[in-house]
Amino acid sequence: MSKADVVLGCFYGDEGKGKVIDYLASAADIAVRATGGDNAGHTIKVDGVKYAMHLIPSGILSGHTIGVIGNGVVLNPEVLMQEIENLVAHGYDVEHFLKISDKAHVILPYHSMLDVALEKTRASRIGTTGKGIGPAYCDKYERSGLRVEDMYAQSFKEKLQGLVESRKALLKFYDPTDETIDQILDFDKVYEAYSEYARLLKPYVCDAVTYLHKALEEGKNVIVEGAQASLLDIDFGSYPFVTSSNPTIGGIITGTGLSAMDIGNVYGVIKAYSSRVGAGPYVTELLDATGDRIRELGHEYGTTTGRPRRCGWLDLVTLKYSKRINGLTALSVNHLDTIGKFDKIEVCVAYDQDGKRTEDFSTNLEFLAASKPIYQEFDGNFGDISGCRTFEELPKNAQDYIRFIESYIGIPVKFIGVGADREAMIVR
Ligand code: GDP
Ligand code: IMO
Ligand code: MG
Repeated sequence: MSKADVVLGCFYGDEGKGKVIDYLASAADIAVRATGGDNAGHTIKVDGVKYAMHLIPSGILSGHTIGVIGNGVVLNPEVLMQEIENLVAHGYDVEHFLKISDKAHVILPYHSMLDVALEKTRASRIGTTGKGIGPAYCDKYERSGLRVEDMYAQSFKEKLQGLVESRKALLKFYDPTDETIDQILDFDKVYEAYSEYARLLKPYVCDAVTYLHKALEEGKNVIVEGAQASLLDIDFGSYPFVTSSNPTIGGIITGTGLSAMDIGNVYGVIKAYSSRVGAGPYVTELLDATGDRIRELGHEYGTTTGRPRRCGWLDLVTLKYSKRINGLTALSVNHLDTIGKFDKIEVCVAYDQDGKRTEDFSTNLEFLAASKPIYQEFDGNFGDISGCRTFEELPKNAQDYIRFIESYIGIPVKFIGVGADREAMIVR
């Protein structure tokens, strides 16, 4: 009986989860996505080719790892088909290496339309990806969502029609002048398109809960690829500036059907600095030339939406919170090469709350607005470390930086990213 290792984002997403999964997949039989949808964008560079994975678990890029889209995912079939086509065009045997949970929820065209319409009504916009994630999870929890298995039921047409007509009315309520609503949500067209998706996806659909448990019972190596991140969690993130799922450890369990006892290592992924895309509080954000420089050096532009990411120094107060709520067993620190280009590196070790120092994080918006980062300074100028493959090869400054993170958080740094390429990683 084996256990599943989990990879989770510790901040606001885009920490480089895809790259860590790609490394772990070299020894994995199965890689599972548990939460979110195509709001995720996980970048992996293989032999000079850049893959931006939105729905299919990045682990599939190993060529021998089966990717499973778990029940907790909201799945846009159009995006999935494009992703499958792209992988097939690059020589991947997707047919034999992809499975989709029959219980995953399906994103329909009105979900992204509602996502955009709802953003317009908000006084304070979240800056969603516009992929329909929030409305799709709303339908799930309101119990009117369409699951993958529903596309094969007798009642499919009737259920779809009820959904399309009611959501059409809702969209017209938000914008009675929008003439595209009737065009895009023409029922016959939607039914035809989704019947075709159902046909195309059929070979991949399975009871993923049983499949994963049998795999663990057979001693298979299973990894779970977190999407989004702790501070985007609907419960534990900076609500309402969050996504609509639980990207934290609880969501990994409910999004796969694995039990708490089935979880092995929980790897928390961070960058050696921080970034956020979309609105919401961000204590260590740098709205100056240093923030711009991090963005340019780290190529911090969204994988899914292309938006420039907000950038800042690493925040260990937030990381400690992330460690607590997820039970992290080890860390992966990416972009050590990027941060090493600065002469001096700041790390946030506490918050100043009106003259009072605290190391305890809270997602309360007023708490965050009142928090000023207290920094500890480190020497940078690591030189070119992209070729380093052992911790000992790193210059002393870089080692000190990593050791400080370990001592503050109290768990080991197991993986260190020294470049975007697949091989550019130190494993300890
Ligand atoms: P994810 O959503 O957590 O998988 O992360 P993204 O793929 O959205 O963003 C991470 C970005 O950093 C991607 O462009 C990666 O290619 C890149 N990246 C990951 N690790 C490293 C690293 O150690 N060094 C450098 N320079 N780039 C990295
Ligand atoms: P990965 O897996 C970074 C952000 C959006 C927005 C908020 C809500 O690549 O780390 P949503 O469309 O989910 O309703 O948007 O969450 N967001 C992400 N930011 N990385 C992601 O995924 C994200 N997924 C959602 O920018 O602020
Ligand atoms: Mg990303």
